[in-house]
Amino acid sequence: MTVILGIETSCDETAAAVVRRTAPDAPGEILASTVYSQIEDHAAFGGVVPEIAARAHVEGLDAIVARALAEAGLGFGDIDAVAVTAGPGLIGGLLVGVMTAKAIATARGLPLVAVNHLEGHALTPRLTDGLAFPYLLLLVSGGHTQILMVNDLGDYRRWGTTIDDALGEAFDKTAKLLGLPYPGGPAVEREAAGGDAKRFALPRPMKGEDRLDFSFSGLKTAVRREATRLAPLGDQDVADLCASFQAAVTDTLRDRVERAFARYRDEVADGPADLVVAGGVAANSAIRAMLGDVCTRNDFTLHAPPLNLCSDNAAMIAWAGLEHFERGETSDMEIAPRSRWPLDPFAETLIGAGKRGAKA
Ligand code: KG4
Ligand code: ZN
Repeated sequence: MTVILGIETSCDETAAAVVRRTAPDAPGEILASTVYSQIEDHAAFGGVVPEIAARAHVEGLDAIVARALAEAGLGFGDIDAVAVTAGPGLIGGLLVGVMTAKAIATARGLPLVAVNHLEGHALTPRLTDGLAFPYLLLLVSGGHTQILMVNDLGDYRRWGTTIDDALGEAFDKTAKLLGLPYPGGPAVEREAAGGDAKRFALPRPMKGEDRLDFSFSGLKTAVRREATRLAPLGDQDVADLCASFQAAVTDTLRDRVERAFARYRDEVADGPADLVVAGGVAANSAIRAMLGDVCTRNDFTLHAPPLNLCSDNAAMIAWAGLEHFERGETSDMEIAPRSRWPLDPFAETLIGAGKRGAKA
């Protein structure tokens, strides 16, 4: 049996969790998962402010770790290793998490496992369902929009990424320009429910292109153009713009995912296969419904983790740490956090991709 304490501070969630696995290849058990969201600290600024985030992590992390252990009914003596997000993300927050993890590990004589935040997202369905490798991953969050082939633990190939904004970022920027609150994704989804998706003919960026990349900044600009033309906007205008935006995004994602499926059939295998969707945007029900449909049509099973495990949390970090720890892969005490840390070391950086670099 392995018991891991996980710590996550890469963006605006201060989180700690305790996860255990009782048998090889079994899924995990989440004994505790505590998340303190700083959304209210940043809402007034319409986005995450790195300095405020780092300070809030310093102030909150010790208590969050203590609470996670208390909820699990365990002490440091019951833990086999400490796993911590070491990147990618905001460097100030990462430093707080990594220093805390090193302090615990040193004081208690425990191994340290430095975890890539994106790997935490990628492995979540193994924690919840014991999903076997290989599978396709669609990661759609505030800082990343990628399609990845997950071959094995530590073996990831990026098939596509955004060349400008991440999808969550596009939702957030669209919300902002329409006067909706931060975070924008849930607000746009709410408005879209009462809107006419056909009223505005917005572009479907990258649709029909062979490469599996994404682009969202042109779509956001098209929304801005319509909003400027119509100003001042009435409630129905906002709802219709949100519905049209969400329809354009959903349509584009469908095209990209179908192409990824075709490549999977060419390069990996025929027969039943698996698609995992992760990241905060996976909370969007229109996107989930489209993914369910496209999977059914292509003999893929869709794995969408529960919402609290789609957005940032420490259970996924503890789990990724657990998988590495069980393979004997632990980290040096000298490791330093990395604001950039691609999952696929062979993937080239695309111009403008992840330029915000703040959220993962
Ligand atoms: O994964 P996440 O919690 O944080 C990181 O980016 O790491 O994702 C947050 C992003 C935000 O951009 C937010 O607007 C978006 O996910 N989001 C949504 C929805 N809920 C959250 N986007 C679209 N529809 C939603 N329902
Ligand atoms: Zn994330």
